Amino acid sequence: MNLGVLERYKEFLPVTSNTPLISLGEGDTPLVASNRIIDEVGCERLFFKLEGCNPTGSFKDRGMVVAVAKAMEKGVSSIACASTGNTSASAAAYGAHYNLRTTIIVPKGKIAKGKLAQAVAYGAHIAMIDGNFDQALNIVKELCEKHPIELVNSINPNRIEGQKTASFEIIDDIGSAPDHLFIPVGNAGNITAYWKGFLEAKRRNKKLTLPVMNGFQAEGSAPIVNNQIVKNPQTIASAIRIGNPASWEKAINARDESNGIIDSVSDSDILEAYKKLASMEGIFCEPASAASLAGLLKKANAGEDFSGKSIVCVLTGNGLKDPDISSTIEPVSMNEYSADISDVERALDLT
Ligand code: F0G
Repeated sequence: MNLGVLERYKEFLPVTSNTPLISLGEGDTPLVASNRIIDEVGCERLFFKLEGCNPTGSFKDRGMVVAVAKAMEKGVSSIACASTGNTSASAAAYGAHYNLRTTIIVPKGKIAKGKLAQAVAYGAHIAMIDGNFDQALNIVKELCEKHPIELVNSINPNRIEGQKTASFEIIDDIGSAPDHLFIPVGNAGNITAYWKGFLEAKRRNKKLTLPVMNGFQAEGSAPIVNNQIVKNPQTIASAIRIGNPASWEKAINARDESNGIIDSVSDSDILEAYKKLASMEGIFCEPASAASLAGLLKKANAGEDFSGKSIVCVLTGNGLKDPDISSTIEPVSMNEYSADISDVERALDLT
């Protein structure tokens, strides 16, 4: 049975005797070894961390469960967040399970269909604003200052605490930290959390070698890469369409302390990686998640030598969340036939 992040990692989390050890079964996600794409990279070992296997289909559940538990500990009965979709789906699910009023503020028309469907089904109060994620985050911050509502975006440190557990799992699974971690960057909470997790693990085990952190933004939403706020961020990877990341400084720390990089990938690089993961590895993630592999392929194709290295690409969310993008993939073969086996055999060249 999956114990959940709080029960499994309570000694490393801000858990007191009054913290309810709530769970929807988050964490303990698969680390899958690459079977085909590894040949293109030329590294020793390549793994994908399937965060889309969390209960609401994204990594957000790891941090949300801690933020919600701490809110419940305080006696708060109302939570809120701004979101590009996944945070709101996660907040709404925990809100439903623990009977908390959940308010989500999202950019109108910019949320992938599956994520909005989740928020609706879980019963969230949904405010769709005529603005982008950065504006939604400003509004929700003010809202939570004025009213007794718990903010559950990743500026809430409990979110980062929960999300760092993914690093612990990776270390447990491969027996060490990887040489390189590749990860998409949006609001920059997750890269911050992974780095915190690796640092804490090293404090417990001095022999651990820390990974190089490689974060990737989408080209049209790359404020950290260009060192400039993007007023009107654009990318097909709607989850990371963010122009002013809340954890900007912390992401830069993670980059610099690990001798890593934060770079950008184009939408076409993202789509290519997204399609490769599905068609060559059987892993269907959402476009934003594929920014991690797109970044790795960009570096490998530019001639970076990864021989002898172990690499983990974090795949942050499930591909089913964004059916509009997946419907742009051309099927290998998809035709209509009569309900007659000989007809189908002829069509499939099996006669
Ligand atoms: N991948 C996915 C699928 C995401 O949903 C997000 C962020 C990221 C990557 C980037 O993570 O923000 O910690 O750097 N989604 C947030 C949301 C912003 O509202 O769901 P980050």
